[in-house]
Amino acid sequence: MDKLIIKGQSNLYGKIEIPGAKNSALPIMASSILSSDGLILENLPYLNDIISMNRLLKNFNIKIKQEKFKTTFNTQKIKNNVADYNIVRKMRASILILGPLLARFKTAKVSLPGGCAIGNRPIDIHLFGLEKLGAKFKVENGFVYGKTKKLIGNTINLPFPSVGATENIIMTAVLAEGKTILNNAAKEPEIIDLSDCLNKMGARIEGAGKKKIFINGVKKLSKTNHSIISDRIVAGSFIILAIMLNKKFLIKDFNPKFIEKPLKVLKKMGANLNIGNNFVIVSPSRKIIGANIETNPYPGFPTDLQAQMMALMSIAKGKSKIREKIFENRFMHISELNRMGANIQIKNDTALIDGNQKFKGAEVMASDLRASMSLVLAALTAQGKSIINRVYHIDRGYEKIEETLGKCGPKIIRLK
Ligand code: EPZ
Repeated sequence: MDKLIIKGQSNLYGKIEIPGAKNSALPIMASSILSSDGLILENLPYLNDIISMNRLLKNFNIKIKQEKFKTTFNTQKIKNNVADYNIVRKMRASILILGPLLARFKTAKVSLPGGCAIGNRPIDIHLFGLEKLGAKFKVENGFVYGKTKKLIGNTINLPFPSVGATENIIMTAVLAEGKTILNNAAKEPEIIDLSDCLNKMGARIEGAGKKKIFINGVKKLSKTNHSIISDRIVAGSFIILAIMLNKKFLIKDFNPKFIEKPLKVLKKMGANLNIGNNFVIVSPSRKIIGANIETNPYPGFPTDLQAQMMALMSIAKGKSKIREKIFENRFMHISELNRMGANIQIKNDTALIDGNQKFKGAEVMASDLRASMSLVLAALTAQGKSIINRVYHIDRGYEKIEETLGKCGPKIIRLK
């Protein structure tokens, strides 16, 4: 298993361009199943999760041609095979093919995605919504079997604005007969990007990004060319890094509006940010003070930046609090940050962070994607060298981190 050796008290200079968003690319790649004549995507990030989704789609005899700036998904000879457990267990987002398979073939057999470090990740809301559209499910021997005679539009009131469930329902309702109204939908920018792509394929979706989404079913979807939006979580991670290292740094090619809440919190903490329409420039600031935040569905503070924020708060002046309201176990990074010199306690769903700490290099273990990024941020700030094990976690969401950051000063070596 790869590990990263990171030299602390790192320099940081120049700029970083933000790649395509993993959490937009994955549902949009799954939606290629819906169109009988394929899909062309640009700005796909180079990540392990994208490789996993490609492998999963190839499972269904979808031919994928990757060129320098675009990837073509040829679905002419698609077959309704089984979504293999070995692929699904590595990536929970595999469940996003359930809706498209039902919409395209009227049946689906998908291995149940396992839980992961941050929670048991149930799919009850997905199944609830798809049943409202006329699907029937049984769960047996670790698989979810779905079938339907006919998908019919309906009014669906989600009990929680689940991102994945919203995506699965949209990708099914677009080929259902009649109108679907989806209430309490997730409002993340990735939902808007999925809707934009599906509408270019001939779908009729209105209101994506709002609480209520209207979908008029159509008979068929056709080929289109779509460019994936940039990754707001990767951008937020690098903005936090520049603040922690107190260096001038340009983070560009993304929409800062998509992380409006985190940027507001960072400014309140004393960060010196120049926010443009497709960039943020971080400049050194006199002092960074603590804050109290809680994670919420968009446009609230994103849970995917919680671990990175915690690393910053550990070195800020004064105390901070983070209440994690989205996942039940997204504090796995705390024990490792404490081993690097942080002073963080957990009280139920809230982390109490004592600031004014100094990170010291240590050997640590990554537990999940965003937790591993918080360890990289701490290691780059620490006194001395750190070793981060199980780096496959970070490769799921950050492109070749040692090269991407290596170009801007940090000394990161990957040991195979
Ligand atoms: C998406 O996960 C993202 N993943 C996650 O990013 C992100 O943290 C999450 O949305 C919240 O923003 C992708 O887009 C691939 P949810 P998803 O359904 O769709 C519970 C990362 O680091 N729930 O909104 O799984 C669930 O257990 C990843 O990039 C149910 O109870 O998130 C969780 O507590 C991590 N039943 C909460 O809702 C369901 O049927 C939010 O889940 C579905 C979800």
